Amino acid sequence: MDFARQVKSQVNLVDVVGERVKLKRIGATPRYTGLCPFHTEKTPSFHVNAEHQYYYCFGCQAKGDVFGFLMQMDGLTFWEAAKALAERYGIPLPQRSEQADRESRQREALYRMNEIALKLFRRNLTTPQGEEARKYLTGRGVNGEVAERFGIGLSDRNNSVLQALQREGFTAEQLEHSGLVLKRQEGGGFFDAFRGRLMFTIHNELGKVCGFAGRALAPGDEPKYRNSPKTAVYDKSNLLYNLHRAREAAKKTGRFILVEGYMDVIGLDMAGIGEGVASCGTALTPEQVRMMKRFAPQVVVNFDPDTGGVKGTERSISILLDEHLKVRVLELAEDLDPDEFIAKYGPEHYAKIATGAPTYYFWLADQARKRFDVTGTEGRREALAFLLPALHRISDKIERAATAGDLAAYLGVDRGLILEQFKKAALDRRESAPKAPAAPALREVERLLLREILRYPDLRQDVIPSLQAMHTLEAASLFQACAQAWHADAGFSYGDLEARCEERDRALLSSLIFADETDGEQNMEAARANVLACLRTLEAEEKERQVQHIRRQIRAAEQNRDMPEALRLMEELDRVRRAHG
Ligand code: UTP
Ligand code: MN
Repeated sequence: MDFARQVKSQVNLVDVVGERVKLKRIGATPRYTGLCPFHTEKTPSFHVNAEHQYYYCFGCQAKGDVFGFLMQMDGLTFWEAAKALAERYGIPLPQRSEQADRESRQREALYRMNEIALKLFRRNLTTPQGEEARKYLTGRGVNGEVAERFGIGLSDRNNSVLQALQREGFTAEQLEHSGLVLKRQEGGGFFDAFRGRLMFTIHNELGKVCGFAGRALAPGDEPKYRNSPKTAVYDKSNLLYNLHRAREAAKKTGRFILVEGYMDVIGLDMAGIGEGVASCGTALTPEQVRMMKRFAPQVVVNFDPDTGGVKGTERSISILLDEHLKVRVLELAEDLDPDEFIAKYGPEHYAKIATGAPTYYFWLADQARKRFDVTGTEGRREALAFLLPALHRISDKIERAATAGDLAAYLGVDRGLILEQFKKAALDRRESAPKAPAAPALREVERLLLREILRYPDLRQDVIPSLQAMHTLEAASLFQACAQAWHADAGFSYGDLEARCEERDRALLSSLIFADETDGEQNMEAARANVLACLRTLEAEEKERQVQHIRRQIRAAEQNRDMPEALRLMEELDRVRRAHG
């Protein structure tokens, strides 16, 4: 048995999912439901089938086996997921093939190199040369405990990262891809990428050190922040600063606070607000939003009040809404950024206004007011046009109507006008709304056969060869896929079959094992009898179809007065009638 199979046979998907999702068993069936961890929802459309060890979400179509779940949930590669499960459940790891784990070895080397660099940066902060940086931190209210927890350090100007990595025996190729050292233009060799900067450690969502940001300390040192370049473990569009810690806090509070800077996140944390995250020097990406969405349904955007911050807020709102997150916008008085605001007004005040932050459309209405002259008709129309796209996205009818009223009053626009626009928008949306996955109907005999084939591998040799020969079945293509999977491996799983199917058949398959119907008899001998009866029915039908077909041919031959052909067909008809009973 290969390793992946062995893991699957020893690990129960229900337990693994159950650690992250509150699952409820559906009656006495082997099926469970819960709120989907991959999209935001109020009523459960996420299903786990314990029998087939497979999950499926009818809302967002997320699906897979236990490996897929961890890959999707934690952003792991297949091997990392298998390894994590093996370690957790005490399954011995096999010797992996060179090729299979090259990538993950490379990543592990990068993590080791980053840990070495982090230790060095931390140490630099305690030496006499760290005096200035320590003062700087103290000046910003960051004490030793916070600096340690966040991995704040100092890079020196002596190439000590390079030396440490070389001492540890990393190859030139590994150095080149680490992002920690840079190649000299001429003369060969490397030098440290970060020099004389206050270092912020960037973790991935699992808490592994994947990169750094260095803030200039010396005046005139540009840029203000320098980030690790893209490496195999650092891709800024797929990371959020502090997510590995904030995810727990966000699960409790139901929200993230999205800020612009590293120091803002740290300022929030010092104020006892753990759910702060920041994107690492990029505009917010859909990947980052999806990461947040797995832990909390709401995001409070608190960017700097400058022009860049306003633009960033607008863009972020749109990306957040695309992923169906609830969005509030917090704007701080006196043009302060979160870090400065907390320092000046204290954590309690900040926490209070963060919770009371207005929903995004009021913030947008303020922007509209600033941009357009809402005292005139033309300006009001423009303001409305500016607001409508975002308002379209309020999916709740009552909330939408209420918001329409509020906004109309807020902007001094006629309530009727705005409501009319809303109705139109709602109609457009209804037409373009994705249809719920209509489970393609399948008649009962075929349905039952498929179900039992999936459930009992021992029955497969009794039925699959016969089914493979029938080409007029409704689920013919599915049975062909079954046959292929069976020829490849008689013990194929639901996932193996699913992987061989076309999209249309996938929907049919999932409707089969996740549908709300009674799960029937769980006894193989009873199932065998059922299956054989179904098979006989299908064979009789198949025979009847052939008989009808030959009869039509005979009639055609007679009409053409082609007696030899008609006689040949009559013999064939006899043969078919005599075949299998
Ligand atoms: P800010 O310039 O607003 O800095 O950049 P800040 O966070 O308030 O920093 P402090 O408080 O002066 O230390 C906000 C964020 O934009 C990114 C960084 O992620 C920074 O935290 N940034 C800024 C860069 O990536 N590069 C830069 O040169 C400047
Ligand atoms: Mn700041």
